[in-house]
Amino acid sequence: MPSVVVVGTQWGDEGKGKYVDLLSGRVHVVVRYGGGHNAGHTVVVDGQTFILHIVPSGILHPGVTSVIGNGCVVDPDAFMTEVQMLRGLEIEVGANLFVSDRAHLILPYHRLQEEREEDKLGNRRIGTTCRGIGPAYEDKIGRRGLRVGDLRHPDFLKEKLDYIVREKAEQLGIASDAPKLLAECEELLKRFTAEALTHISDTSLLVHESILAGKNVLFEGAQATLLDIDHGTYPFVTSSNPVAGGACTGAGVSPKAIDHILGITKAYITRVGEGPLPTEMLGELGETIREKGAEFGASTGRPRRCGWFDSVVVRYANRINGLDALAITKLDVLDSLDEIQVCTHYDYHGERIQEFPGELSILEECKPVYRTLPGWETPTAGLERVADLPKNARAYLEALEELCGAPVEMVSTGPERHSTIEDMGTSGKSVLDSWFGEPKKNPAA
Ligand code: IMP
Repeated sequence: MPSVVVVGTQWGDEGKGKYVDLLSGRVHVVVRYGGGHNAGHTVVVDGQTFILHIVPSGILHPGVTSVIGNGCVVDPDAFMTEVQMLRGLEIEVGANLFVSDRAHLILPYHRLQEEREEDKLGNRRIGTTCRGIGPAYEDKIGRRGLRVGDLRHPDFLKEKLDYIVREKAEQLGIASDAPKLLAECEELLKRFTAEALTHISDTSLLVHESILAGKNVLFEGAQATLLDIDHGTYPFVTSSNPVAGGACTGAGVSPKAIDHILGITKAYITRVGEGPLPTEMLGELGETIREKGAEFGASTGRPRRCGWFDSVVVRYANRINGLDALAITKLDVLDSLDEIQVCTHYDYHGERIQEFPGELSILEECKPVYRTLPGWETPTAGLERVADLPKNARAYLEALEELCGAPVEMVSTGPERHSTIEDMGTSGKSVLDSWFGEPKKNPAA
């Protein structure tokens, strides 16, 4: 019966896909509540790697209902490609996948618009994924977006599309290409309608009824707290609200419907795209961590910038999201280091900064202040029990708990489902058992 939000506590790519997959074995419904195919959730099942961009990771579990919520933006091409990829791998995609009638569509002109805007910004560019995410959300807020539910009304859709494409073509300075752009959009939407109609639903109602029926619901966050349009490092952010509160607006449920919030936190920090990263490791160490942690974007392949663990960031994420527990990922990437730095606070021109600053100009001048901890120099990859962790690795995790103010309940030691330490908590049992009760083979049964 419980519902859980899984949220990224840093700049994304914390390894949410792995935990969502782990939790999917205990829930009936998985709901994506924001973002689009800018996300790249990597899940490894029985040695096979799946990278999901828009379809919720729940799809990999038979009997689980997957929902793309109203807070998402859906690119028809990306959706169809992913569905085909999954079916090609003999994964069922049919009556187990729902798309909100209120989710907004990403259309070819959004990508054109974004490429232009990023080009124009030059060295002030955001470093977006250039997938049309921002422009689609702009149109949503500007009240001129097309929504998935519009596919059910072809005449209305045609009329609106006709008008919007002409406007967009004019703004892009390609007015004479408007008929071609319109034909491209129409053809795309025709193909998408054929696939999507069976999946379109009032998903807020579906989730509400699932909760009333006593089902377990997982809200799957994409991106992360520091990429949140309101709470992140604006303007170097995405255009939605990945924070836990976004689950309510992005899935259409009451705050009262959320029982637990799990913060996913990498044992160090990474970010892709532009914008400040106070604890960035420049030089050889950054390279080593990038290689060891395979830190290359799952969506765009871009190398991720790597840095030491920043507890100012995760403490802030704890406050904004109200975390019940932290789940740490990629601890094993630090295995070979003899010393590990953890940022405890920032120094801003001699002033001690404990709380994450809202102004970029301040953040850019903040210098990280570190606590040095001894490394463990022992392999932890694949460990499944807290008792097997080296002493210094446990001390490192305890320092993160103390600095971030949230209990570390789980630790991931590799990409596979089973490479997870679940007995971290003081009770000695898995936090998932406390939240969901003993696991069942098939929760839908
Ligand atoms: P957008 O979401 O494509 O608009 O990109 C805005 C910023 O968010 C850029 O810095 C992207 O690199 C970053 N971003 C978007 N999605 C992800 C993600 O899934 N992981 C990490 N960074 C992301």
